[in-house]
Amino acid sequence: MTNLTAEAKSLENVKNVVFCKTEEESQKHYDVWSEIYDNDLITLGFGGHTSIIYMFSKHVEDRINTKVLDLGGGTGLVSQFLRSQLQFKGEIDILNANMDMLYKASKKEVGYSTILRHWVGDSGDLPFRDATYDVIVCSGAFIPNHIPASAIKGILNVIKPGGLLLLNMRLETTGSYGEELLNNIKQLCSEKKLELLDDDQYIHFSKSPNKFNSGCFVYRRT
Ligand SMILES: C[S@@+](CC[C@H](N)C(=O)[O-])C[C@H]1O[C@@H](n2cnc3c(N)ncnc32)[C@H](O)[C@@H]1O
Repeated sequence: MTNLTAEAKSLENVKNVVFCKTEEESQKHYDVWSEIYDNDLITLGFGGHTSIIYMFSKHVEDRINTKVLDLGGGTGLVSQFLRSQLQFKGEIDILNANMDMLYKASKKEVGYSTILRHWVGDSGDLPFRDATYDVIVCSGAFIPNHIPASAIKGILNVIKPGGLLLLNMRLETTGSYGEELLNNIKQLCSEKKLELLDDDQYIHFSKSPNKFNSGCFVYRRT
């Protein structure tokens, strides 16, 4: 198998979950893709993990008494990198809609405090008490057929005032979904519920022939 074929196959799996017709279809693809998801992201050179881990290292000083939610955490790669690359010792919970992805996460040496299967709906209401988390990390889950763009408003409730939301998102290819997400964030910032602290741009899949930009954003819940 040539590299190009491997990349094309990996990209096909990405397209199957993002550019399908319904959220249900997307989730069915994850049931199968979970087996090789981690390898596919390596094949494609996914920049989102590197960027979110870099931003975490830059903005989160306390690596022991910080409680993190890995939202839409999938197979747990972000949590895993927090442990292995930053020696993060604080509590990590993971929430995700797909059981097969979470099963993979549960096999990693992260030591999650909570592993929760939950579908984040339009309201973004999460099954946690308000102000539970110091930091939410959310990589690759605010995309079409995934977490609804409107949910950003509700998920803020579980972040402690002054806590952080680290979010990466595609800056291209997401059409009206991307516009709605940016508008919602703009509104939250103008209502002084969120404050942008930092942002970083990266090539979404550095090893794919179809290159486009994504961004990693650090917001403070005010
Ligand atoms: C592209 S994966 C990203 C996984 C991980 N955060 C990473 O960076 O590797 C997106 C994950 O979001 C989950 N997801 C999609 N829609 C969701 C929703 N509405 N609520 C919770 N999880 C959702 C999917 O099941 C999938 O595991």
